[in-house]
Amino acid sequence: MLRSLQLYSTHKTIPALSLTSLFFLFFSLSNHGCIYCVRAHIFIYAGCSQEKYQPNSLFEGNLNSLLASVVSSSSEATYNTFAIGNGTSTPPEGVVYGLYQCRGDLKIIDCSRCIQSAVNQIGLVCPYSYGAALQLEGCYLRYEHIDFLGQLDTGLRYKKCSKSVNNDVEFFRRRDDVLADLPTAIGFKVSSSGSVQGYAQCLGDLSSADCSSCLTDVVGKLKILCGSAAAAEVYLGKCYARYWASGYYDFSSDSSNVDDVGKTVAIIVGVIAGLAILIVLLSVCCKAMD
Ligand SMILES: *[C@@H]1O[C@H](CO)[C@@H](O)[C@H](O)[C@H]1NC(C)=O
Repeated sequence: MLRSLQLYSTHKTIPALSLTSLFFLFFSLSNHGCIYCVRAHIFIYAGCSQEKYQPNSLFEGNLNSLLASVVSSSSEATYNTFAIGNGTSTPPEGVVYGLYQCRGDLKIIDCSRCIQSAVNQIGLVCPYSYGAALQLEGCYLRYEHIDFLGQLDTGLRYKKCSKSVNNDVEFFRRRDDVLADLPTAIGFKVSSSGSVQGYAQCLGDLSSADCSSCLTDVVGKLKILCGSAAAAEVYLGKCYARYWASGYYDFSSDSSNVDDVGKTVAIIVGVIAGLAILIVLLSVCCKAMD
């Protein structure tokens, strides 16, 4: 037994190295190998409030009913907002506001799967948090104790810039075409010019004026933060934009992408995998002792 435990502890680095494959395995198994669905579940970023709620509190009860409503709504609509416990006769400590938004090109069935996955993950990534936001490749989920619905928020949440392109005038011209086109989105827009493609989206609770100013802001930040990157993505509080040179984004083989952005979820998956390895080692050990 002792030897098995030591063996495990000297192999602590294994889960870190194989996290990427475990991550893909985890989601492929839950999606019957559908490649676009796998992409939809890729973790982009999460944010959690520092303040924690008490188990079995009114807030927890309301949050659970909010999450249940989110799941059931996502089989009918690609976006919705929720407010639970904000009536004048209910105790204010239980109030919870929420929103989910699927990427504009997702079919309702894929939206629903993505949201189910987000609901499953948000409590693991942000345990007992009073507020949490989780962005997956295909959908976004957020809940808060305070009312954030309908308010413009251009705070930077996440950015990723690929390696730079040098001296490719054609590329920069095409990229600027795409970036100039994206802020005209009403909700969601895909744009392409030559070999460059991109898309942008606002959360559904923004007015069209706020959406437009959010997208103008995010496109400006893409240029400032990612300069001459061949592919880039920037997520603000209420909108995001991304572009890539054709063929550059191959998510099915872009493992470094997951290593960068999937850390939190990957750590959780890694811990589960670690426990599984430990159980296997222990059972082998105990069989050997029989
Ligand atoms: C609860 O919050 C929602 C979302 O902000 C709002 O539309 C609704 O009017 C609020 N209800 C009450 C009773 O304040």
